[in-house]
Amino acid sequence: MPTIKSLYLHFPFCAHLCNYCDFFKSVPQNKDTDFQNFAHYLEQCNQVHSQMLQKYSYEYVPFETFYIGGGTPSLWSTTGALALKDFFENHNWKLAKDCEATLEVNPGGWTRAGLDAFRAFGMNRFSLGIQSLNEKFLKVLDRYHDLNHVHETLNYFNEHELNFSVDFMLGLPFSREYKRDVIAELEEILKYQPKHLSLYILTIKSNYIHKDHMPDDEWIEAEYLKVADYLEKNGYVHYEVSNFSKPGFESKHNLRYWDAETVAALGPSATGFLKEQKLRYKWKPYKYEFEEEVLTESEMEFEKIYLNLRCFKGLDTDQYFTTLTAEKIQAWQNLIQKWETMGYLQSRNPVILNSKGFLIMDSLMDDLFKKDLV
Ligand SMILES: C[S@@+](CC[C@H](N)C(=O)[O-])C[C@H]1O[C@@H](n2cnc3c(N)ncnc32)[C@H](O)[C@@H]1O
Ligand code: SF4
Repeated sequence: MPTIKSLYLHFPFCAHLCNYCDFFKSVPQNKDTDFQNFAHYLEQCNQVHSQMLQKYSYEYVPFETFYIGGGTPSLWSTTGALALKDFFENHNWKLAKDCEATLEVNPGGWTRAGLDAFRAFGMNRFSLGIQSLNEKFLKVLDRYHDLNHVHETLNYFNEHELNFSVDFMLGLPFSREYKRDVIAELEEILKYQPKHLSLYILTIKSNYIHKDHMPDDEWIEAEYLKVADYLEKNGYVHYEVSNFSKPGFESKHNLRYWDAETVAALGPSATGFLKEQKLRYKWKPYKYEFEEEVLTESEMEFEKIYLNLRCFKGLDTDQYFTTLTAEKIQAWQNLIQKWETMGYLQSRNPVILNSKGFLIMDSLMDDLFKKDLV
């Protein structure tokens, strides 16, 4: 019987909306009622979700990974921790003994009582959206928080010896004009010894408010490679395109996505995947239904290659080539040779990209498309 070992839950509220963000979220009009309605919505969704899981004979087992993302789930606070406790008890869900249970936290968007309650519930990993440690850029992005909020949160994490990750953004508007120094910002952050960092290059829409002040590709590439080098010199492994960790502190939850494993999801806009059914589903915002997409064999194959190449485990060619014709194997080998000569690989077999390769991942996938290899 297939099992559900991982769950993602999407909390769709933020104290304030950042000007670049495209995730599903809104500002609560009245926290008490909105949060109560949200808990009710989750309960209803879960009924529909359980029916679908039953149809495919899935069974819940104690979760090995659990992730609450958003939005700003730390805003859910004590009410949220209690709602979760009830929810888990009512459905007889449990966190496994060594479960990695992550909560996204926004600087300035949490209280001690709230985080204490989430920790009492079992959340044991915290992902903090710092984005920049320069006030000018926080203002440009319309972030709610200031530097005091960041230090206050990092001090709380250190005080309680918590396992935490940091979200940090590159390619920000006005980077050239204000001469952004990402290494100086990261030096400050590393003093608090995060076990994990996620590095995101800002993506924008064509009508973005600061579209005329974006740094060019050259600037962004230099930032990305500079940061990758700096983090590696400080003992972090570049284990996925956007992620770095101290050895052994990779995000177990995200590795399940990158290994194309089954991860269930609840909450407006949340996306889940049932590997055994090759089924991806996405919750429609505030409807008790989801869109379904069943992947074909060749889509699964493409995903596998794409996901393997995104990660430090890489693509095991010994195993993969057993499924290919001699002609395709030769074409792959030529391409691997080309990538190596251009300095994009840290290993040929398995094929593992280095930071330079991760940076141009999309154009490497284009190479594969053009040669009809995916
Ligand atoms: C959806 S947010 C939730 C975390 C939290 N609310 C926050 O903002 O810190 C997750 C991460 O996605 C990244 N992100 C959001 N919008 C982005 C964009 N347009 N381009 C690149 N990264 C983005 C940010 O680094 C953010 O920390
Ligand atoms: S706080 Fe996070 S989720 Fe909310 S608007 Fe800003 S980037 Fe988006």
